[in-house]
Amino acid sequence: VPLQPCNTFGIAARAQTLVRVHAADDIAAFLADKELSGGPVFVLGGGSNIILTGDVRPVVLKMEIKGLRLVEESPRAFIVEAGAGEVWHDCVAWTLEQGYPGLENLAMIPGTVGASPVQNIGAYGVELQDRFDSLDAIDLATGERFTLDAAQCAFGYRDSVFKHAPSQPVVAGGLPRGMGLAGRAVITHVRFRLPRPWKPVLGYLDLERRRAEAGVAEPSPRQIFDWVCDIRRNKLPDPAVVGNAGSFFKNPTVSPEQCADIIARDPKIVHYPMPDGSIKLAAGWLIDACGWKGKSIGKAGVYEKQALVLVNRGRGEQSVTGGEVMTLAKAIQTSVYERFGIRLEPEPVVV
Ligand code: EPU
Repeated sequence: VPLQPCNTFGIAARAQTLVRVHAADDIAAFLADKELSGGPVFVLGGGSNIILTGDVRPVVLKMEIKGLRLVEESPRAFIVEAGAGEVWHDCVAWTLEQGYPGLENLAMIPGTVGASPVQNIGAYGVELQDRFDSLDAIDLATGERFTLDAAQCAFGYRDSVFKHAPSQPVVAGGLPRGMGLAGRAVITHVRFRLPRPWKPVLGYLDLERRRAEAGVAEPSPRQIFDWVCDIRRNKLPDPAVVGNAGSFFKNPTVSPEQCADIIARDPKIVHYPMPDGSIKLAAGWLIDACGWKGKSIGKAGVYEKQALVLVNRGRGEQSVTGGEVMTLAKAIQTSVYERFGIRLEPEPVVV
C-alpha cells in the first residue's frame, strides 16, 4: 500500500499491510485475527508528524473513526467528544460553528484528533492540555478499553505518555502501569473541556499585533480563529502544496546562566522566560542564525519563511527520502551545537 498520500511530508514509502479503522470494534476484530495482529503495529492518523525512512513493516492501523458531539453542558464548561479520525481543523471549526469556543488558537494545525494528545499540540498560547478532558483508548496487548484523564496522559511540551516506550517509566500523573504507551495503545476518542465563560488567549505577539491592527478591544472567538488561520497561512507551508511536518525541532529550554552566556555573544537571540524559571529559546531563530533558512541538501530543504520547518523540495516519484530529511536535520543539529552548544531534539516521530 503506498503511504505517500498518508504523510504530509509526501515521502514515498509503502506499508505491507494497512487496516482502516472506522470504529473501536474494528480494533477488537483486528486483535481477534491472530494472523494479522500477531506482530508489531503502527498507528497512523493524519501522518502530519512522522518522517518515514523506509517501508513500514508493522501493520499500519489507519485511524478513521468519525463523530463530533456535545456530551455535556454545564455552567462551567462544554464537553465535546470527537472521533480519533476526525480532521483536527474541521473539529475546531465545528466547535466554533456550534457555539462551543475555546479551540480557536489551535486552528489549522495539520493532522487528526487522535494525534492531538500524543504530542500535546500547541500554538499561539494554548496547548491541548489546557482544553483536554479525557480520552478513550484500547490496549493493543490485551484488547482492553480504558479512559485516561489529563494527569494520566502526563502531558508536557510536545510530549505525553504516548511518546514514551512501554519500557520507560512515566513519572507524572500516576498512570495505570506508570509506563509509556507508545505502540501499546490506540486512541479512539478524545473529549475536550471548553471552559465557560469563554476568555480569549491573546498573549502571543503575532495575535496581539493583529488585535491592535484591527483596533478591537474584545475580539470574538471567530476573529481569533481567522487571525490564527491568516498568521499560519503567511508563515507555514501548506502541506498540500509543499510537503512538511510542521516544526521539525522542539524549542529547547536552557538555564538562565546558559541563556545569559549566549546573549553575551548573540544579543538578539529570541528567548522567553518560563514559569519554572528556565528559559525557552526559539529553535527557528537558532537555525536561522546559522544561515540555514532557504538552504537544501538534496531534496530536503529549510523553508524560506520559517527556518524551523523542513520541507520536501521533490514531488511524486521524485520526492525527498526520509534519509535525506534526516541528513539535513543532522547537519542543522551539528551547526546549532557548534555555534550555541545546544542540542536540538527532533519533534516528529522518525519511523
Ligand atoms: N524566528 C526566526 N527565524 C526563523 C523562525 C523563527 O528568527 O526562521 C524567530 C521569530 O522571529 C519569532 C520566534 O523565532 O520571534 C518564534 O517563531 P514562531 O512565532 O514562528 O514560533 P516557533 O517557536 O518557531 C512554535 C511552535 C509552532 C507553533 C508556533 C506558534 C514548536 C516546536 N513550534 O513555533 O508549532 O505554531 O510556536 O505558537 O513549539 C509545530 O509544532 O509543528 C508548530 C508549527
